Amino acid sequence: MPLAAAIRTIPDYPKKGILFRDITTLLGDARAFRKAVDELVQPWSGSKMDKVAGMEARGFILGGAVAHQLSAGFVPIRKKGKLPHKTVSISYELEYGTDEMEMHEDAVSPGDRVILVDDLIATGGTAEGAIGLLRKMGAEIIAACFVIDLPELGGAKRLEALDVPVRSLVTFE
Ligand code: PRP
Ligand code: ADE
Repeated sequence: MPLAAAIRTIPDYPKKGILFRDITTLLGDARAFRKAVDELVQPWSGSKMDKVAGMEARGFILGGAVAHQLSAGFVPIRKKGKLPHKTVSISYELEYGTDEMEMHEDAVSPGDRVILVDDLIATGGTAEGAIGLLRKMGAEIIAACFVIDLPELGGAKRLEALDVPVRSLVTFE
C-alpha cells in the first residue's frame, strides 16, 4: 500500500479551511510505520550519524524510530519550559505570531552530524527554528526529513535556501 493511503485527511481541523493530514493512522499500521521509517533512513543507512533531532510532538515518534535504526542518539526539541537542564532557545514563526522552542545546551557537540525529523513540513517555520538551535550549538545539519511535504506552503524551499537538503516521502498539493 502506498504511504499516502495510510494517512488520514480531516477537513476543517483545527479550523475551517485546513485539510489536516493525520499520521496516527500510519503510525497504527505496523507495515506503513515500518515502511515510513525505512524510507526516511534509507539515504543514510551505513553512514555515520551522531544524532537525530525531533520536534515536539510528532517528530518524537518518528525521530526516535529513525535514531534507533541509525544507531544514533536522539535530541528532543521542545516547546518552551519543558526541559529540565540548561537550554538554548529560539523564537520561531507560527502561522499567526511567534513561539519559542528549546534544546538542552549539551544535547549536541560542535561538529556533530545531525538529521532533523518531523512528520510534516508546511511553512518550514518549525524546522527553521530547530535548524537555528542546532547550528547555534555547532552541529552540522546533514538533512531534514519529513513524511509529508505541503509544497504550496513553501517550507522545503525555505530550508533549501538555508543549505539544508530536504527529504520527504509523500506530497499533498
Ligand atoms: C506541526 C507539525 C510540524 C509543524 C509544521 O506541529 O508536526 O512540527 O506543525 O508546520 P510548519 O512547517 O508551518 O512550521 P504542531 O506545531 O501542530 O505541533 P504538535 O506536533 O505538537 O501538534
Ligand atoms: N501542520 C501544519 N499544517 C498541517 C496540516 N495541514 N496537517 C497536519 N499538520 C499540520
